[in-house]
Amino acid sequence: MHIHRLEKIWLIFGISMLVLFLTVVGVGAFALGMEPPGDHRHTVNPDTLSTTPPFDKPGLHQIGDKEYEAILVAFAFGYNPDKLEIPAGSKVRFQLTSSDVVHGFQVNGTTINMMAVPGEVNHFSYTFDKPGEYLVLCNEYCGAAHEVMMMKIIVK
Ligand code: CUA
Repeated sequence: MHIHRLEKIWLIFGISMLVLFLTVVGVGAFALGMEPPGDHRHTVNPDTLSTTPPFDKPGLHQIGDKEYEAILVAFAFGYNPDKLEIPAGSKVRFQLTSSDVVHGFQVNGTTINMMAVPGEVNHFSYTFDKPGEYLVLCNEYCGAAHEVMMMKIIVK
């Protein structure tokens, strides 16, 4: 179908206005410090992680029957801790942040695929039913040693 030149101009104008509108709304919400509901996203100062709970104690902490909390800090080029040992059948609530740049946290063989963002805490819950060794890889390019940034999750 032939689109008249004038229609094209109006279409482009319309799309531009939509993009502009979304940008203004997005930036406006950000400026006001508005956040999505729920506690699935909150902020943390990346410079004081070592003294800010829960990131002052990275690792696996039991919080209930077959329920654990995994506190993780990503950095260039690794994770603290670099290994988690999880009893099979446990539900793990991950809390992840970064102390420097944006990193990834993808656990092979699971649906876990999180981003580690400096200044933000990302949450995810997962139940590890299958015993085995799971390789965790960084899937966000973060610098020279990005390719070798990894850790291990051992479920037994
Ligand atoms: Cu960290 Cu790529």
